[in-house]
Amino acid sequence: MQQENPPEIALLSLGVSRSEEVPAYQQIHEQIRRLILERRLAGGLRLPSSRALAEQLGVSRTTATAAYDELAAEGYVQSRRGAGVYVAADLPDDYLAIRQHKAGAEKGRNAIESSEDRPFDRSFEVGRPDAEAFPSRLWSQLLARSARRDMPALLREPAPNGLPSLRQAIARHLRDFRGLACDGRQVLITSGVREALELLCQALLAPGAGVIMEDPGYQAARQLFAARGHDVLSVPVDDQGLAVDPEGEAFRAAGMALVTPSRHYPLGMPLSAARRLALLDWADRQGAWIIEDDYDSEYRYSGRPLDALMSLDRSGRVIYLGSFSKVMFRGLRLGFLVVPDSLVETCAKVQSNLGPQAALVAQPAMASFIAEGHLATHLRRTRRLYAERLKTLQRSLAEAFSDVLEPLPQDGGMHVVCELRAALTARCGDRQLCDRAADAGLALTPLSPHYVGSRARQGLLLGFTGADEGAMQSAAKQLKTAIAGPSRPRVRAG
Ligand SMILES: Cc1ncc(COP(=O)(O)O)c(C=O)c1O
Repeated sequence: MQQENPPEIALLSLGVSRSEEVPAYQQIHEQIRRLILERRLAGGLRLPSSRALAEQLGVSRTTATAAYDELAAEGYVQSRRGAGVYVAADLPDDYLAIRQHKAGAEKGRNAIESSEDRPFDRSFEVGRPDAEAFPSRLWSQLLARSARRDMPALLREPAPNGLPSLRQAIARHLRDFRGLACDGRQVLITSGVREALELLCQALLAPGAGVIMEDPGYQAARQLFAARGHDVLSVPVDDQGLAVDPEGEAFRAAGMALVTPSRHYPLGMPLSAARRLALLDWADRQGAWIIEDDYDSEYRYSGRPLDALMSLDRSGRVIYLGSFSKVMFRGLRLGFLVVPDSLVETCAKVQSNLGPQAALVAQPAMASFIAEGHLATHLRRTRRLYAERLKTLQRSLAEAFSDVLEPLPQDGGMHVVCELRAALTARCGDRQLCDRAADAGLALTPLSPHYVGSRARQGLLLGFTGADEGAMQSAAKQLKTAIAGPSRPRVRAG
């Protein structure tokens, strides 16, 4: 029989509150984690068995085991078969704990700032997935499993274009969900849209070549093209998406077009079938490239998602750009490109030369998440959840804001665009409104900065996916106050 370590005094502080909404296993997990980080439970210390812990706290053994499993998955404890559970000797948050301690000593001057700590209400933030809806426990388990199983190979294999199993899993996923017939070779893993665009500029564009962008459009991409010395050619959009005019000046000059065909960013309409065909035809004749930015097509709430533009491409001119920032979480920093067969070698080589930017560590877990069907399940769940939230927001807009805001029709995505009605624009513009809301602690995104032309529409982008109904209602109240507030006195330049 093994000797039990004497129970640490610190463990006596554990307790489970039935009135809290947080599940019991998470409460226990959080309390033990904190004790470990605060060094009140030393590395190597043997913890009570799950049975003893369950008895102490008056919970089931399954609950105690679930708390230990979560701690083990995150690396805070190690479970030795038949020998018990021990506090890990090398703590993952060692450094953080030291920083927090020092920061405390310096009265918080050097505290690490987390965006979640800022006193902002982020309920209307655009493209923010709901962290509560993410299967964190499962994800931690997949990470822990891959750390055990895949680490030796990851240490040896640089995999400059991404992990082969992830590339294959993405190809299969795209075949099922987006009607894209592609294979794993065509998929290159990136750290996100920036890396993808850098890579494509280097691989496909002559210095200074023109790039068509939608107006309004994705300003981060516009800035990237401009910073690389490309001529950014703004083409307006209407209710059918990009106004494709192969004879127009921009189309005659461009070597590439960046488009959002499934749902225009930021306005939300799909590119019409006729415009899709016209764009493909233009690219074929001109020998130009189309980058299809499919940034949030997973979220369509009525009917099937439209097939990807790439699936219509017969001449190999379309490159598909995907991201896991919205369906997983933004900090993951994993995205991908699907390139036509003819470009696989060139793009793979350019990426190898640039050096991969996406960390390999999360890639095996991401591959399992897709291949084992968890991504499909997560998408189904979040689709239902977000569809409800979209309805809630639309109801609130109709009931409380119809005199000042006019929402554009929306059946997908993660935000609603609302135009400011004349009654409001007479008092303030969208930037001014957002500044005013920010002063009151509410994060809002104005529409007009997405335009480069002078006929910018005044409006707001209201995200509806990151916060539950209660939070959204309180944010709506703040929005109401910001709208009602007095306009700021104009400050004259100079
Ligand atoms: C229009 C658009 N494209 C692509 C992305 C994805 O970017 P990333 O994968 O770098 O997070 C975003 C994210 O906000 C976006 O708004």
